[in-house]
Amino acid sequence: MVVNLSIQKTINNYMLNIVLFGPPGAGKGTQSAKLVDTFQLVHLSTGDIFRYNIKNETELGKLAKTYIDKGELVPDEVTISMLEKEVEQIKEAKGFIFDGFPRTVNQANALDAFLKNRNAEISMMLALDVDEDELVKRLLIRGKDSGRADDSDESIIRNRIKVYNEQTAIAAEYYNQQGKYHGINGIGSIDEIFNRLSAIIVESTR
Ligand code: C5P
Ligand code: MG
Repeated sequence: MVVNLSIQKTINNYMLNIVLFGPPGAGKGTQSAKLVDTFQLVHLSTGDIFRYNIKNETELGKLAKTYIDKGELVPDEVTISMLEKEVEQIKEAKGFIFDGFPRTVNQANALDAFLKNRNAEISMMLALDVDEDELVKRLLIRGKDSGRADDSDESIIRNRIKVYNEQTAIAAEYYNQQGKYHGINGIGSIDEIFNRLSAIIVESTR
């Protein structure tokens, strides 16, 4: 109950722009869905936008597919301009949850720049921490019914985690230097992890 009142206060008084961070399979999409409901935010998942474009066979989708199928990152300039267009389309928002973006320091810089255009900034990075064996296990299970080719092949999954470790993990340092980084244990039930995330959001906006 106390937590619910705090959440209400948070929603009413703050603009929240959250980077939900973590390796593939950490639970970013699952937790985003719950957080957007509770905190009335707009969910922007770069991976979902790519998959929408792939399904609709757009030029962007065809290009992105060549990288996604290998578990590689789509080049920064492509991803950044795509996300910028999405953000620009949304005029009114209590804030955003960025899921799967930024995945490089370049992308983090670009995100700051286009939030600045709307007199906004990232409030915090929430980083879900899950070990590699658990990630692989979760993704292989998800791959059974998600229809995602990149979730069905263990070598692609391992490459995505490798790419995360080599190119993405350092983006956390970018936010750490700004005092915005919060690491969260990403092992547990969906509700347990959601409560950990909510507590940090409420606490840091108090
Ligand atoms: O975030 P998600 O795991 O859904 O992303 C799926 C794939 O989309 C990634 O493995 C990567 O190939 C691509 N992607 C990217 N750059 C991003 C987000 C996703 O290249 N910022
Ligand atoms: Mg996801």
